[in-house]
Amino acid sequence: MNINKIIISDIPASYYAGKKVFVRIDFNVPNLEIDPDPPRIRRAIPTIDYLTSRKAKVILASHLGRPKNKPDPKFSLKPIAMRLAEILKANVNFVGSCIGDKVNQTIRNMKNGDVLLLENLRFHEGEEACDEKFSSELASLADIYVNDAFGTSHRKHASTYGMARHFEYRLAGFLVQGELEHMTKIREGPERPFAVVVGGVKIKDKLEALRHLIDKADKVLVGGCVAYTFLASKGVSVGDSLVEQESISWASEVLSKQGHKVILPQDHIVSTNADDVKSIRLVLGEIPKSLKGFDIGRDAAKGYTTELATGNRTILWNGPMGLFEKEQFSHGTIDVARSVALAYHRGCTTIMGGGDSIAALRVAGVSEREVTHISTGGSASLAYIGGEELPGISILNDKSVMEPSLTEA
Ligand code: 3PG
Repeated sequence: MNINKIIISDIPASYYAGKKVFVRIDFNVPNLEIDPDPPRIRRAIPTIDYLTSRKAKVILASHLGRPKNKPDPKFSLKPIAMRLAEILKANVNFVGSCIGDKVNQTIRNMKNGDVLLLENLRFHEGEEACDEKFSSELASLADIYVNDAFGTSHRKHASTYGMARHFEYRLAGFLVQGELEHMTKIREGPERPFAVVVGGVKIKDKLEALRHLIDKADKVLVGGCVAYTFLASKGVSVGDSLVEQESISWASEVLSKQGHKVILPQDHIVSTNADDVKSIRLVLGEIPKSLKGFDIGRDAAKGYTTELATGNRTILWNGPMGLFEKEQFSHGTIDVARSVALAYHRGCTTIMGGGDSIAALRVAGVSEREVTHISTGGSASLAYIGGEELPGISILNDKSVMEPSLTEA
């Protein structure tokens, strides 16, 4: 499927020589010690290789985690710069900031083909606020802007939107191109029946995305913390489980209008906390006070397996059913992963999103090849397929505005 955004390879290769290219990537990979080769890094490599081999000076920038608008060594990108250098088998410069004199000096010293990784953008409050001053400072670092951070394209931040407005050329990288190619067809008209499985802990984002997606889906299977908000909206006691209070009234409205599409777990694996192995038990219906849900229960898992086996033509899975990193809470996620793989082998188009879902496949012993497309975006992929406009994508140049001079190969 052709997408209507200008891709880095759409402009003459010679154009890049000596140019400073700012590439917004999504290196939000908090588990580098456990997974040293996360897809978000692997999939960014073709864009980096393409630009360095065309002698651009490549300035990479990302966020990592949610560091509360100020520097926090826990969220430094330095270890990622070191890992990237190993993968690229090349030197990767790293500066402990993303704007300021040191950054300017480092960029002045860059040679054609060099790579620089800036420090976590979210160490500055201007990033999430999409502050104009911060956006202009970032924009002043480069000649061309590239977005290859699909997973962050739903955020209207300085690096995904504010700074891009300052560039004449704001292009899509290969990772973004691949994501749009795979997902646009489903966004425009999924083959039916279309089942959505949603879980995970980023409840607010997932519920926001469901606002749009629910109209398109034929059924929505809910797990993880997203389920507790829906259950709480029905007046079911969920004990101490995580709930997004702000979304309760919306969840209740959805259930009254589209409740026939929404499938919620009727039993749960609960505990006082994730480490208290002794208090783990299976409960049916209400979750007692002082207990928290950490996985869907056995009946729910069985029901979801059946739902996923019954003739769906498209499945979108986003977010695990529980705290699958712990064996005791992994069964719901494992069952769903295996069911999604089985559906794929039966000819269903399956799309997965979110870094944790990829780790979940590993836990379930399901290969990445048993899924049609694994997106690097979690909430971004839900929002995109739901039909929302992603600020980080809409700000990129449309093919229709490409200057003739730039199309001469
Ligand atoms: C993600 O992991 O979904 C993206 O990197 C966006 O991160 P955020 O939810 O912290 O904005």
